[in-house]
Amino acid sequence: MVLQLVSLVLFVVHCIAFAGAVNDEGLALLSFKQSIKDSTARSLDNWNSSDANPCSWYGVTCREEKVFSLRLPNKGLAGVLRLDTGKLVSFSHVNLKSNYLSGSLPVELFNAAGLKSLILSGNSFSGAVPEEIGNLKNLQTLDLSQNSFNGSLPSYLIQCKRLKNLVLSRNSFTGSLPDELGSNLVMLQTLNISHNSFRGLIPGSLGNLSGLQGVLDISHNLFDGPIPASLGDLPELVYINLTYNNLSGAIPQTDALVNLGPTAFIGNPLLCGPPLKNPCPSANSNPDTDPKPLAVGDGSGKRGRGKLSWVVIASVASTMVGICLVALSFCYWYRKVYGCKGKKTYPGR
Ligand SMILES: *[C@@H]1O[C@H](CO)[C@@H](O)[C@H](O)[C@H]1NC(C)=O
Ligand SMILES: *[C@@H]1O[C@H](CO)[C@@H](O)[C@H](O)[C@H]1NC(C)=O
Ligand SMILES: *[C@@H]1O[C@H](CO)[C@@H](O)[C@H](O)[C@H]1NC(C)=O
Ligand SMILES: *[C@@H]1O[C@H](CO)[C@@H](O)[C@H](O)[C@H]1NC(C)=O
Ligand SMILES: *[C@@H]1O[C@H](CO)[C@@H](O)[C@H](O)[C@H]1NC(C)=O
Ligand SMILES: *[C@@H]1O[C@H](CO)[C@@H](O)[C@H](O)[C@H]1NC(C)=O
Repeated sequence: MVLQLVSLVLFVVHCIAFAGAVNDEGLALLSFKQSIKDSTARSLDNWNSSDANPCSWYGVTCREEKVFSLRLPNKGLAGVLRLDTGKLVSFSHVNLKSNYLSGSLPVELFNAAGLKSLILSGNSFSGAVPEEIGNLKNLQTLDLSQNSFNGSLPSYLIQCKRLKNLVLSRNSFTGSLPDELGSNLVMLQTLNISHNSFRGLIPGSLGNLSGLQGVLDISHNLFDGPIPASLGDLPELVYINLTYNNLSGAIPQTDALVNLGPTAFIGNPLLCGPPLKNPCPSANSNPDTDPKPLAVGDGSGKRGRGKLSWVVIASVASTMVGICLVALSFCYWYRKVYGCKGKKTYPGR
């Protein structure tokens, strides 16, 4: 009995000694390991709690003995992501793409204010993106593509003003894009939000993304309304894809848009004008098939102006008729009252 107690105490002491061997950064990564199933590639086998720090662990790199990145792409990892980055003072890069991770993102993931890239594409993550993502003021690359994220884009995302690459394609995102997206994320080079259920108007501010270099892909969503003419201000080499939405009205004939072929616009039955084959209905014909004028500065504005000039003509005409009527009745009254006088003067002519 006493012997058993002593050996139990020895065992506990042994465990504590082991757990105490690795530093706080290592402990944070070990709790990540605990919630991961790594039975395929066994990539995490050398993550040993008796090492002084985690810098020799597979997939981990350090700078000045502080964890700098965690890169485990395509390693058959399953399970949920539990990672408190608060203790990782130099943590800058996470790449866990093409694994089988699931569940929602823990808010603790966003505790590392220095995070520059977060690549989680090709997993089974779900739920909404926590608003704490707005804490990541240094974030340059966010790739959440090919998961099952839902909910709307956190409005806090526009606080990540250093973002260069924002890839959210192939998820179940809903809601509309923040109007200020283009005026806040001015460093964006790539914006790919294709294959989601985003809806509403395309923000005109996207035309302000003068740094776009690669891609503006908003295809396969539920965007409606006109194409903002400001998109024509984008650099001409940007690959713009607006296909398969519910956009309507005339395609603005502005710089970057003029150069696109019809393949950039297909799948929007209510769009008209070049380079598409279906012509826009002329100004005052067939109001039933005309898309409604939705905003100033787009193609439908012409029709708005047409209507306006009719209103002006009508009101000017009716005012003139009114003035004539008043003048006529004044003449009539004048003649009646001063009729004799008038007649007297005439013969003197
Ligand atoms: C961890 O490292 C210790 C000491 O270097 C070693 O004895 C032990 O076998 C290692 N454990 C694993 C699981 O590799
Ligand atoms: C998002 O998906 C989760 C299940 O993963 C569900 O519980 C939640 O209601 C969904 N939210 C929205 C806004 O669709
Ligand atoms: C946008 O992302 C989707 C899915 O990840 C991909 O298929 C598509 O090629 C991307 N668009 C561009 C223009 O790279
Ligand atoms: C584009 O940026 C300029 C200057 O920052 C701003 O005045 C303008 O309103 C922006 N345009 C849009 C459509 O947001
Ligand atoms: C597409 O937009 C039109 C108006 O422009 C609207 O009547 C229609 O319901 C929309 N369709 C979908 C699928 O949202
Ligand atoms: C846009 O994407 C669709 C499919 O998503 C593709 O068929 C089309 O060619 C693309 N447009 C351009 C301009 O590449």
